[in-house]
Amino acid sequence: MKAIEIRNKYLDFFERHGHKVIPSASLVPENDPSVLFTTAGMQPLVPYLLGAKHPEGTRLTDYQKCLRTNDIEEVGDNRHLTYFEMLGNWSLGDYFKKESIAMSFEFLTKELNIPVDKISVTCFAGDEDCPRDEETANYWKEQGIPEDHIYYYGKDDNWWIAGEEGPCGPDTEMFYDTGKEPCGPNCEPSCDCGKYVEIWNNVFMEYLKKDGKYTKLSQRNVDTGMGLERITFLLQGKETPYDTELFTPIMDKLKDLAKNDNIESRRIVAEHLRASMMIAVDGVRPSNIDRGYILRRLIRRMTRHLNKLQIDLKELDGLIDLDIDTLKDMYPELAQNKETIKEVILTEKDKFMKTLMRGEKEFNKVMQKIKSENLDIIDSNSVFKLYETYGFPPEVTKDLATENGLKVNMDEVNELFKKHQEKSKQGSDKKFKGGLAGNSSKEIQYHTATHLLNAALKIVINKDVHQKGSNITDERMRFDFTCDHKLTDDEKKQAEDLVNKWISQGLEVKCEKMNKNDAIKSGAECMFIEKYPDEVTVYTIGDVSKEICGGPHVKNTSELGHFKIVKEEASSAGVRRIKAILE
Ligand code: ALA
Repeated sequence: MKAIEIRNKYLDFFERHGHKVIPSASLVPENDPSVLFTTAGMQPLVPYLLGAKHPEGTRLTDYQKCLRTNDIEEVGDNRHLTYFEMLGNWSLGDYFKKESIAMSFEFLTKELNIPVDKISVTCFAGDEDCPRDEETANYWKEQGIPEDHIYYYGKDDNWWIAGEEGPCGPDTEMFYDTGKEPCGPNCEPSCDCGKYVEIWNNVFMEYLKKDGKYTKLSQRNVDTGMGLERITFLLQGKETPYDTELFTPIMDKLKDLAKNDNIESRRIVAEHLRASMMIAVDGVRPSNIDRGYILRRLIRRMTRHLNKLQIDLKELDGLIDLDIDTLKDMYPELAQNKETIKEVILTEKDKFMKTLMRGEKEFNKVMQKIKSENLDIIDSNSVFKLYETYGFPPEVTKDLATENGLKVNMDEVNELFKKHQEKSKQGSDKKFKGGLAGNSSKEIQYHTATHLLNAALKIVINKDVHQKGSNITDERMRFDFTCDHKLTDDEKKQAEDLVNKWISQGLEVKCEKMNKNDAIKSGAECMFIEKYPDEVTVYTIGDVSKEICGGPHVKNTSELGHFKIVKEEASSAGVRRIKAILE
């Protein structure tokens, strides 16, 4: 079954069951400043979930365009997407668990013809906010789901809320068994091995979370969501969304055009092009902030990977035509706005190419010199300098080198980057004095943000939180720290709020040279004391943070923009990892 057929089946089914079909809202949320993009079908419906009367009644269904940007860097693997479509149905104070489960079961088994034994479900295990959801499990049993296909999990898996606050509740998720071998004796839906794939989530929304407290909503709602790309590839027996008709035309075309094929780059181009078109058609334009910045990143990353595939960028025009042709039945707005879409994407691509071209001139000089010396390898210091001075990514240098019959020792280059990073951290390299060499201004901002986050976590979690590592690129920061638990949504929010408060206070960042022992006595934090020279640099930010650090840093926290945690996950035993961005 094609994606569009699944979409139509879904909407027809719920229409037959008394639901009104409503149109997808824009990817740009209308009255919700808390999110950049619409990330779930329920988001545009929040006022109605809270009790306002919807003009179309109490049973609704739609497909909703969604964009989730937490995982941009992961796109290229076999499952992450930024843009996706969510099918959903809602009860606004109408039916509740029993009917919702009966309809889901009927749709999966009768409309999509999924055999019952391929379905597993999960229910909420219960905690201090809400009891164990035996009721839901019993309704599944009544439908014919065997007991050993029913699992119970806690809030991490079986509770749903959009962001930090708002309407929420326990949910029940449906999983599809791909038929793959279990990864071990304890393989179950919660595990990541790929045997079980979540296909549908029914949220039984009866709570409102506000200021960290749960209160009962005035009405009990059902909010469900099914990812269209995912159910499509599963039903087609494919391995990834890229193997479905939504992506195969462009994936095949890219393969034809590529002189240096690799599947990750093709997926990145295909995914980011679709996402960029969908964002552009909803009125967003590339810029350095907020939504515009996300669009810019997507187009630039796509351009870089077209380069990597060694596809002439003039082809992008035709690739847009092809993709619009593929998607126009699902999204007629793409065909209607083709010229605008092209203008937005192609102009941004050209801008990015100018940056790249400046670096290329320098690259050519380096190349002439190497050739005149009868060498065939670009020395790693030149690769580093191209990056340092012209923002020229080493992968691009390598691609150009290959085209010109030259080599780059990427292992050595990576080592060199690492060494420079460490040196800049330790502040022991004279070249880095004053701080600006070797880091882009964005990296410097992130560097200061790590100090603020470190300080915030000590307040929010406890004072024994210690930094275990960090990694900074132009696009994000990663921060590892000691902590024995997964951060709650509240803890993340508090940390984020503190950092943003300090940014908005415009705190001065002060840099002093000190004797190492004096620095420690003065209360300065550091990661690996034994690694520092006797004289160290101490950075103090207002009265918020004091750390031994090689810099570089911004002069004032007001230079940072808006700080946002995009991910929190385990790094290793007792160590958590936060990924965050400055917007
Ligand atoms: N709002 C729920 C989700 O996004 C259905 O999973």
